[in-house]
Amino acid sequence: MYNDNPTLETTPKVLDPKRQGEVFSEEADKNGSSTEERKFYIESYGCQMNFSDSEIVASVLSEVGFGATRDMEEADLILINTCSIREKAEDTVRKRLRIFDKVKRKRPGTMVGVLGCMAERLKTKLLDEEKLVDLVVGPDAYRDLPKLVDTAGSGQKAVNVFLSREETYADINPMRLDTSGVTAFISIMRGCDNMCSFCVVPFTRGRERSRNAFTIVAEAAQLFERGYREVTLLGQNVDSYKWENPENNEVYSFARILRMVADIHPDLRVRFSTSHPKDITDDVMYAIGEYENICNYIHLPVQSGNTRVLDLMNRTYTREWYMEKVKRIYELIPDCAISSDMISGFCTETEEEHRDTLSIMKFAQYSMSYMFMYSERPGTLAERKYEDDVPEDVKKRRLQEIIKLQSEISLRHNQKDIGKTFKVLIEGDSKKDPNDFKGRNSQNKMVIFPKEKGFQPGDYARVKVREVTSATLIGNMVKELS
Ligand code: SAH
Ligand code: SF4
Ligand code: F3S
Repeated sequence: MYNDNPTLETTPKVLDPKRQGEVFSEEADKNGSSTEERKFYIESYGCQMNFSDSEIVASVLSEVGFGATRDMEEADLILINTCSIREKAEDTVRKRLRIFDKVKRKRPGTMVGVLGCMAERLKTKLLDEEKLVDLVVGPDAYRDLPKLVDTAGSGQKAVNVFLSREETYADINPMRLDTSGVTAFISIMRGCDNMCSFCVVPFTRGRERSRNAFTIVAEAAQLFERGYREVTLLGQNVDSYKWENPENNEVYSFARILRMVADIHPDLRVRFSTSHPKDITDDVMYAIGEYENICNYIHLPVQSGNTRVLDLMNRTYTREWYMEKVKRIYELIPDCAISSDMISGFCTETEEEHRDTLSIMKFAQYSMSYMFMYSERPGTLAERKYEDDVPEDVKKRRLQEIIKLQSEISLRHNQKDIGKTFKVLIEGDSKKDPNDFKGRNSQNKMVIFPKEKGFQPGDYARVKVREVTSATLIGNMVKELS
């Protein structure tokens, strides 16, 4: 699920005022007024959970009459939803704060708020470090935003970084910020109870909790009615989703939720992210196999291919155990694509151990991966227990080897698709050529093909693959699936 690859880390996502207008007119109708006095602007960084949270923030603010804007210069409230996963992610946020500072100088009275993981990690320290910040709001405190904005508006600094054991924002209908109107994220759980030694998430997101199953299904059904054709169920560790109905103590597992959402309509595609290898069950794999609309794609981050390093990382599986999991997936879902996350140069990693990561990548045949250099994070187990002793240039070189190998594996993976026909959900225009559509197949591969009359985003097309790159399948529409 970790879209915090360089493109997303550096490319803020801002609201599309056109779509916001639609949502706001609904809200205005409800409130019997259409005057929007105040405007907010929001940028999001980090993982899909953060993007999903920004939609909750937008919804909370709209309830108190805030209108969205894409232009920070006209905003009364500038928000940045931040990520702490690596040092670079935080550097990016600090750079953006410098830009906001300029806007604030031009328009005194503009408020700047830091939301998300960096707010949670640094708390009031952010106010000391970044003088221009007026609000600091952690991931579990977004309901409190209207009050905090009022406090900040009266000239006081406003902070809420309380982490909750219960908050899932289950009853909040997120305001969709994705402009496609075809795909949407649904958060099904929050927090993480794993303690991977390198990871800051348990500290910034708090304890794991699962959202009411019925509200998840209702949200997905409503999206389908509004024309959406794909939902991605989100969580740091979706496979450990577990919700107990307080009325009858019935327990809902992740596999059950998957089936419930898939049952809404065969034309609604279901994806999910992220799966921790230790928690994914055969039942989830059976569900993928049973339902055509549950996509044949699993993001199964390995982090390292070496058992000693995995142990230091506290991932709770060995190299061999992970390999068995991969074998099982391919056995039960032969055309499943698997992707991964890898970290190069974790504390004490040797050359030989690094080569184990390369060899497990070959074994698993990942369709794609997110690949990172280890970045020590304050407060994590690794920071307290191990020395960050792999030199930067070695980390970098190992990362380059991982990236090079992945791109070769991806290319070969894609070459096997030449001549095959896939059902592709059209998401919109291709970036390179407006005469082409872009969409994804079940395996989550991007497919580009010339537009044909009568088709539009949200429709399914059958596309026969003609050529490929390591990142994309290129083809033409055909009449029948073969
Ligand atoms: N919950 C997900 C991933 C969360 S963070 C999971 O368990 O798989 C997303 C990815 O960022 C991780 O999979 C890991 O590869 C990477 N990451 C996390 N902390 C990191 C760190 N300190 N340095 C480098 N990469 C890190
Ligand atoms: Fe971080 Fe591990 Fe939790 Fe993923 S499972 S969020 S890597 S602690
Ligand atoms: Fe996500 Fe970054 Fe927080 S990856 S959970 S936004 S630290």
